[in-house]
Amino acid sequence: MTDDATVRRRLPIAVLISGTGRTLKNINERVAAGRLDVDVRLVIASTPKATGVQFAADAGAPSHVLVRKDFDSDPAYSEAIFAACRKAGAELVVLAGWLKLLVVPDDYRNRVVNIHPALVPSFCGKGYFGHHVHQAAIDYGVKLSGCTVHFVDNQYDHGPVILQKAVPVVHNDTADVLAARVFEAECEALPEALQLIAEGRVTVAGRIVHVS
Ligand code: GRF
Repeated sequence: MTDDATVRRRLPIAVLISGTGRTLKNINERVAAGRLDVDVRLVIASTPKATGVQFAADAGAPSHVLVRKDFDSDPAYSEAIFAACRKAGAELVVLAGWLKLLVVPDDYRNRVVNIHPALVPSFCGKGYFGHHVHQAAIDYGVKLSGCTVHFVDNQYDHGPVILQKAVPVVHNDTADVLAARVFEAECEALPEALQLIAEGRVTVAGRIVHVS
């Protein structure tokens, strides 16, 4: 008899990081637990300071550092990144704490996914990263925040929304406390979205994502 795990196809992905790689670590843990059918083929970091490259080895994947200032333009930078993803056979590119603007080539349209730590379209776009996102939510006084998994287009945090998870914003929250609460939701939301994509259950029509 064949073990189900040996016949299940794993979606080849590339993971792009700019920082600690906590999201990549979470992906690795889900894969190891047999709960996520992706195969991390490549990790790209936007800076040599991205400590998250350590998690590439856990996935058995090579890692490259590609720095924006070594390229003349956003398109040239993006081209180098997607060329590496193509070469690695990545069918999906996952932005996991990636802070650089990308120009998505046609063959990767609706095949690049980002997770943003707020409920898009609130507290997103240029400048909304890290604790700035959570401080803005607290300062505005919203009672709910959360995270958004979305396809990536050529604007920050703008493409079609795949799924969102909400968390409460509690009186006296600091940005760090709220960030930790949101990150717990992220650790569920991104694997859930990736698994839906891996199972071929996600289609996109304009801005609308349909999950079958
Ligand atoms: C996560 O909060 C995610 O929402 C955002 O980047 C954070 C992870 O990056 N896109 P890092 O691992 O802390 O660098």
